[in-house]
Amino acid sequence: MRKIACLVGTLTTVALAMYALAGDTAKKPAEPKRNTAADVPKEVSLPVARREVRMLDDIYKLAIVLITQKYVHNETDFPAGAAAVQWFDAIGKRGWHKVRLIDVSGEPADEGNLPQDEFEKLAVKLLRQGKSYVERVEKRGGKRFYRAATPVPVVLPKCVMCHDNYKNVKPGQPVGALVYTIPLRSPAPKQKQQK
Ligand code: HEC
Repeated sequence: MRKIACLVGTLTTVALAMYALAGDTAKKPAEPKRNTAADVPKEVSLPVARREVRMLDDIYKLAIVLITQKYVHNETDFPAGAAAVQWFDAIGKRGWHKVRLIDVSGEPADEGNLPQDEFEKLAVKLLRQGKSYVERVEKRGGKRFYRAATPVPVVLPKCVMCHDNYKNVKPGQPVGALVYTIPLRSPAPKQKQQK
C-alpha cells in the first residue's frame, strides 16, 4: 500500500515538472505595448454603454449614500453631493464618460446643478412624470453619444437637514438626477451583400 502511495507521489511530481516545463515553452500571448488607462478605448457599443450606466449608477449612488450615512453629521460637514460634483468633474476630464448630478426639484443648492442642455431638461421633465430611466443616442460633430438619466430620491431623513425644500417631497419623488454621457463606437460598416 505504501509502495503505491509512493509511486503515485513520484508520478505526480514528474507530471508537475513536465507541466511547468511545457508552460515555459508554450507561446505566450503578445504583451500590449503599453498598458495604461489612457490606452483603453473609451468608445463602446450601445449594449456596453447601457451596462456601464447601470453599473456606474449603483456604484455612485451607493458611495454617496454611504458617505452621507457615515461622515455627514451636521450642516457644516462637507456634503457627499458636493464631493460628487468634484469627483464627477475629474472623471469627465479623464475621458471615461461624463456624469452630472443635477437638480430636479426646481430649487438647487447650487445653480450650477440646474439642468443645462436639451437632454437634461427633457430628462427632468420625464423623471418628474414618474419615468425611472431616460435614454437616447445623440449625434454631435460626427460622433455618437449615449445619454441616460436616472432619478435621485430623498433616501435619508438627513437629506432635509441641508435641502430644506425636500421636506414636502412625496416619498419616491425624484429631487435630483444623475445624467450620463458615454462615447459610442461608430456602427460597424455594413457588409456588402454576396451575390
Ligand atoms: C451637509 C449638507 C447636505 C446634505 C446632508 C445633503 N446635501 Fe445634497 N447638496 C448639498 C450641497 C451644498 C450641494 C451643492 C453641491 C455643489 O454643487 O457643490 C448639494 C447638491 C445636491 C444635489 C444636486 C442639485 C442641487 O441641489 O444643487 C442633489 C440632487 C442632492 N444634493 C441631493 C441630496 C440627497 C438625496 C441627500 C441625502 C442622501 C443630500 N443631498 C444630502 C448639501 C447637502
